[in-house]
Amino acid sequence: MGRVLMRSSDISRPGGQEFEFTEKDFKYIQWFLHKNVGIFLSDQKRAMVYGRISRQLRALKLRSFEEYQKKIESDTATRIDFINSLTTNKTHFFREFHHFEYFEKVMLDEWRHMGKKRIRIWSAGCSTGEEPYSFIASLCKEGALEWCDDLEILASDLDTSVLKKAALGEYTNDALSSIPPQYLRPCFLKGVGNNEGKIKFAKAFQRLVRFKQINLLENWPIHDKFDLISCRNVMIYFDKPTQEKLIRRYHEQLNPQGVLFIGHSETIGECAELFHNLGNTIYVKQ
Ligand SMILES: C[S@@+](CC[C@H](N)C(=O)[O-])C[C@H]1O[C@@H](n2cnc3c(N)ncnc32)[C@H](O)[C@@H]1O
Repeated sequence: MGRVLMRSSDISRPGGQEFEFTEKDFKYIQWFLHKNVGIFLSDQKRAMVYGRISRQLRALKLRSFEEYQKKIESDTATRIDFINSLTTNKTHFFREFHHFEYFEKVMLDEWRHMGKKRIRIWSAGCSTGEEPYSFIASLCKEGALEWCDDLEILASDLDTSVLKKAALGEYTNDALSSIPPQYLRPCFLKGVGNNEGKIKFAKAFQRLVRFKQINLLENWPIHDKFDLISCRNVMIYFDKPTQEKLIRRYHEQLNPQGVLFIGHSETIGECAELFHNLGNTIYVKQ
């Protein structure tokens, strides 16, 4: 009969927990995250937080949450890993497709007719890069690179690990299921040989995206004004006052007639007077 293997630590805590994790510890994490990055963690997230934090403690060979807390406060790298471990990075190519339809059929069409020569887009909370690359693929499909020679997408996130992946521009073939076929060429390259099973965003178009680490709650090291700001499925993690402050700052950062896209379950709440609401989470600066 096989032996039942158990880590010695599994039996040293009530409920089989490897590390002690008190209500006070959880409250500290809630407070820290809210204060520093605006993310509001509900009490229901406790088990998720314990799981992610335990991984960090193991990796750092720490024995208690108390030691970890000290390290978060004294060591920048640990603090960054801690924040990275608690962000939600779910995304995919052409997520909320109606935004890309509006972008192509209304915005690009208008810009082409007016002979717009400079386009600036900000993908704020870009995660692993699918969102900014989708905008580039959309621009390519519509031939915008032929009539606009000064085009840039700023793609920012708080989480440095997702930004690294985004800058690499490599995805598994699973990503293909979310890319409509008309967007594949010329932006997405299929891996061969050692890269079989992967797709890569073509370097020639990657250069149109500038990745940058930005905490949306802090000062933005940005000099540009934007024609489009896409901040989708990011504010959902913030409380109402933080959302409102952010939307006012986006308004400031947009060119006249600039457009704001937000996620399907987000609203601009008290800031309604600043924008024309076109429906479908599309807002035009008034
Ligand atoms: C769920 S993803 C959304 C990705 C993409 N916009 C989309 O809709 O598919 C949310 C992203 O927001 C980022 N984020 C959370 N808080 C942030 C903050 N304070 N500043 C900048 N980015 C933040 C997270 O790191 C995460 O990558």
